[in-house]
Amino acid sequence: MCHIVGSGPGDPELLTVKAVRLLKEAEVIIYDDLGTEAAVELHASPASERVCVGKRGGRRSARQADIDDLLVQHCLQGRRVVRLKGGCPSVFSRVGSELRALAAAGVPVELVPGVSSALAAPLLAGFPLTDTAIGRSFVVVSAHNPKEADWESLARGADTLVLLMASSNLPEVVERLLATPLPAETPVAVVHAAGLPEQRVWRAALDGVVQATADAGPLSPSVVVIGRVAALPEQAWQQ
Ligand SMILES: C[S@@+](CC[C@H](N)C(=O)[O-])C[C@H]1O[C@@H](n2cnc3c(N)ncnc32)[C@H](O)[C@@H]1O
Repeated sequence: MCHIVGSGPGDPELLTVKAVRLLKEAEVIIYDDLGTEAAVELHASPASERVCVGKRGGRRSARQADIDDLLVQHCLQGRRVVRLKGGCPSVFSRVGSELRALAAAGVPVELVPGVSSALAAPLLAGFPLTDTAIGRSFVVVSAHNPKEADWESLARGADTLVLLMASSNLPEVVERLLATPLPAETPVAVVHAAGLPEQRVWRAALDGVVQATADAGPLSPSVVVIGRVAALPEQAWQQ
């Protein structure tokens, strides 16, 4: 059995009860290193074997095909395996590749949702992702390759855009969005390291957000929220 488990955005108290139990019981934990390390430290058995397949801290990440093979090998040995993923496995985690490899090898799988950074980051920054008056819909977008997204349709299609993997591409994303009907004064919040001690939040208008974050250093990991909800705390203070 392979348990594919979401570990939330990084705060080790933002895991589900089930995720904590599975980590305690795991003999092998194969984990990414974004949003998972503190959870492994706090919840995993000291006797567990831990395999990091992430790429932060200067290391290269493992190729997805190698991660798939590693998972299958450990599971076929009959060990209790947890594949721990940052946030929720359902959001931009390449879980499909792992599911296909496990299915081909005849390994049963349990999928355990986690709190996605897409949903957690706005609330941790102090504003809701939806609002009955100004935020009745949102869309979660990968900004990993800005050329691949249809920014015009996205800007027209939802009240709020939630961008993941936008950090290094923010200037290009903003340039593309400013070429859509989205007003230049649309509020933006950049939520860096949500739920972690180093969390920071920048708020600016769409046409000013690149400058507002220019001196911040590396923005990754960040969730970028574009839409009127991103200004809700400021609006509340003004009342
Ligand atoms: C490959 S995606 C994985 C998303 C993950 N499965 C989830 O549900 O949160 C990685 C991106 O998630 C976002 N992210 C993950 N954890 C974050 C955090 N603690 N604070 C801000 N953004 C985060 C960033 O946009 C980062 O580039």
